[in-house]
Amino acid sequence: MSDANGPLDNPADLFDRRPRYGARDGVLLSDGTQSDPLRITLESPDDFDDWRDAARKLVAAGVSPMSVVWTVVGGDADLFGGAAPAAAAAASFSVPRQFVDLAKAAICHSDPERFALLYALLWRLRSNRQALEDRADPLVNRVEKLAKEVRRDAHKMHAFVRFREVSGDEGGRFVAFFEPDHHIVRREAGFFVRRFANMRWSILTPELSIHWDGTTLSEGPGATRADAPEGDPLEETWKTYYASIFNPARLKKKAMLKEMPKKYWRNMPETSLVAPLIAGARARELEMIERSGAQDGMAEALASERRLEPGSNLRAAWEALLAEARQCTRCDLYKCGTQTVFGEGPLDARILFVGEQPGDQEDLAGRPFIGPAGQLFDASLQAAGIDRAQTYVTNAVKHFKFEARGKRRIHSKPDAGEIEACRWWQEQERGLIKPSLTVALGATAARSLTGKTVTISRAREAPLVLADGSECWVTVHPSFLLRIPEADRKAAERARFVEDLKRIRTRAAELAD
Ligand code: URA
Repeated sequence: MSDANGPLDNPADLFDRRPRYGARDGVLLSDGTQSDPLRITLESPDDFDDWRDAARKLVAAGVSPMSVVWTVVGGDADLFGGAAPAAAAAASFSVPRQFVDLAKAAICHSDPERFALLYALLWRLRSNRQALEDRADPLVNRVEKLAKEVRRDAHKMHAFVRFREVSGDEGGRFVAFFEPDHHIVRREAGFFVRRFANMRWSILTPELSIHWDGTTLSEGPGATRADAPEGDPLEETWKTYYASIFNPARLKKKAMLKEMPKKYWRNMPETSLVAPLIAGARARELEMIERSGAQDGMAEALASERRLEPGSNLRAAWEALLAEARQCTRCDLYKCGTQTVFGEGPLDARILFVGEQPGDQEDLAGRPFIGPAGQLFDASLQAAGIDRAQTYVTNAVKHFKFEARGKRRIHSKPDAGEIEACRWWQEQERGLIKPSLTVALGATAARSLTGKTVTISRAREAPLVLADGSECWVTVHPSFLLRIPEADRKAAERARFVEDLKRIRTRAAELAD
């Protein structure tokens, strides 16, 4: 037996540590009778419901994990092919919700032992409801690792599926080919339905294909790359977009390869740009510094970024945090956004701005404050004499929450639970950067920073003190300014916002002295 960590010396250790009821070549039932080994055959490799039904019956019949062999259809035995314990009447027991979530993810792993490992864990929970709390336990650890790898694969699918438009009798359809590592396609279908509700699309994978016609999701057999269309005009859009967001100053070839494994490159038009972009990175970086000659801050920011690398512990810690945040599933918002939008800016920034949550454009680009609110924010910073490139900008909530209305994705406010779930990231970012001054842009940010409901009009007057003793200045969110309909009120509020920012600039300078 082996897993992603390599061979295990003693696989049995992963199963229940209490005395065995029997060996895999025979089943000793709890009533003392002996039966043939049980072979459980599931309908499909990701079939949680089927596994749960079988597992419930096995537990009820007192069949120990070591007495069961799990297979997927294609094997030669039926469910309960040996002595059938299904009718055994035993008290049912409930499992913690956490186990169900864990099992639903882990069951999609390609490790053939996943069903057995989950059953062993379920068996343990029967007598110890707290079993999952023991993070050092090898079985808990292994199952969590499976679930984590599945979530990571899902994240890659969200990020790397590239649709190409094809025309047909029934109109246009977007088709993508993707090769997941695990059995995640059914599990992730909902993400693509929500994300592309108004498009007709198909995702082809070697194991199965899924199709959405705007109302119904259907499944078909697996496909090969040759079944998916090659290049089309959409590719050009992608390439242009990718080239424009490529920041040579941040080039980290190893990290890039880690995040975008070569295996996916063939499916992604922008990867044809990777080699030339890498080759021209240094030249583009210098050009960027030169072009920004008037904005000294930009050159300084690039320099300051480099000051903290390579090999800087701080940068390594921030990158590890970023990698972790990209896989965040702390609340359900990861299911609807395209990606985690993490904070950005130099890690020695003195001012750290916290917004609410990424909007539509931020969600697609993966960067905070680049849409309409971001543009107003930039202009206001400039008017106040603050160079954004010297500040760190992040959001209280790192995923875009929206309601689909026709083709549009309409911003929807994060609730208290979502703010709380995401607060951890903001605290980690602040813990690493240690700004002298944090600015809450609006009520969501203020709540995330203080843990309380804050009334902006009152809190705007004077800084709050955060738990770490540092100052937090509260002001309005730029979107608030965008929403004001009357031109003169809009101008007045905008001027007030700029005044707030000026005070913040002065105070940050005082704190730095
Ligand atoms: N609004 C925010 O709060 N953050 C963004 O990144 C964009 C808009």
